[in-house]
Amino acid sequence: MYSVSVTAPVNIATLKYWGKRDSVLNLPTNSSISVTLSQDDLKTTTTVSCSDSESYSVDQLYLNGKLESLESLRSQKCLGELRKYRSEMEAKDGSLPRISEWPLRIVSVNNFPTAAGLASSAAGYAAMVYGIARLYRLPLDRSELSKIARQGSGSACRSLYGGFVAWEMGSKKDGTDSRAVQIADVGHWPGIRAAILVVSASKKEVPSTGGMQLTVGSSDLFEYRVKNVVPPRYKEMEQSIIKKNFEKFAELTMRDSNSFHAVCLDSYPPIFYMNDTSKRIVKLINELNKSQGRNVAAYTFDAGPNAVIYYEEKDEHLVLGVLNEFFGHLPGWDKKRSINYSLPDRFPID
Ligand code: DP6
Repeated sequence: MYSVSVTAPVNIATLKYWGKRDSVLNLPTNSSISVTLSQDDLKTTTTVSCSDSESYSVDQLYLNGKLESLESLRSQKCLGELRKYRSEMEAKDGSLPRISEWPLRIVSVNNFPTAAGLASSAAGYAAMVYGIARLYRLPLDRSELSKIARQGSGSACRSLYGGFVAWEMGSKKDGTDSRAVQIADVGHWPGIRAAILVVSASKKEVPSTGGMQLTVGSSDLFEYRVKNVVPPRYKEMEQSIIKKNFEKFAELTMRDSNSFHAVCLDSYPPIFYMNDTSKRIVKLINELNKSQGRNVAAYTFDAGPNAVIYYEEKDEHLVLGVLNEFFGHLPGWDKKRSINYSLPDRFPID
C-alpha cells in the first residue's frame, strides 16, 4: 500500500468567477482573483492511498467520515488525468510499480462547514488532486496541477497557491491556458487579514454550477459584466495587490461582490445568496469605512449569505472591535478569531 497526506487551504475570490464558457472542461467566462486563507483556520486534510489488496476493490471517497460518490464527471476527469500521467510514467520506466491500476481511497476532512458557500469544493478538489499527484510522484508543477483541479471545481485551481492568486481564463478551446498563477505570495503583504462571519452553515440553496449556468443563460447584465467590468477591474485589482494599496483593493473587492450578486439577482428566476443579515453586514462595513474617511475593511460574499471581511492588521483592533460590538453578544462568537458559527438570520443593526 502507498499513502500520502496533504492539506489544501480555502481561497476566497475578491474578483469573482461566475460563468462557464465550456462546462465540460470547466472553462470560465472571465478571469478571477482570490486570496488564499491561512491553513491554521480553514483547510481540507486529505489522505490518499492505493493498494492491490482485497479491501481496495473500487475507488472510494470519504468526506467528513461519509462515503461519497466519485461517479461525477468532474471527479472522473481529475482521477482519469492523474492516472493517465502515472501510467505514461510507468510505461516509460519499467521499474516503477504499476500503481496507476490500483484502486484509490481518498479520505478527506474539512475543518469548516461543507458547501456553506465557504469554498469547501475548492479546498477539497485541490487537496485531492495535489494528494494523488504526490502519491503518484508526478513531475507536474502547481500551475499544471491547477488545470486538473479546475476540472473538478473551477475555484479549486486557485487553492494550489498561497497568497494572492489569479485564475487566468485563457482563450484556447482545449483549456490548456486556463490555469492559476500566483500574483504575489503571502509574504508580499503579510498584514492582510480575513474575518469570516458564518451567517448560516447550512447547504447552499442554489449550488454554484447551476447558479452560474442560469445567470449565463438569462441575465442581461451578465454580458456587460464579463466584457466591460471584469477586464479593467482585473488589471486594477492586480495592481492594487502589487502596490499593497488597501484602499483600492477594498473598493474593488466590495464592488465586485456587489456586481456578482447583481447578476445573480438579474437571473431569471432570480438567485438570492445574500440574506438580511448579509445586507446588514454590508451596511455596517460601509458605515465603518465612512466614519474613518477611508476603507479599513472590505466585505465579500460568495454563493451564500456568509461574509468574508478583509482588513489590514494595523486596523485589526478597530475592525474586530466593531464586529464584536455588533455580533459579540451572540452565542458561538469567537472574539479572538472573529469567526461566528451561529449568527442568526436576523439581528438588530440599524
Ligand atoms: C461565487 O468553483 O464552486 O465562489 O466550477 O461549478 O465547481 P464550479 O464552481 P465553483 O464556483 C465558485 C463561485 C464563487 C466565486 C469564486 O470563487 O470565484
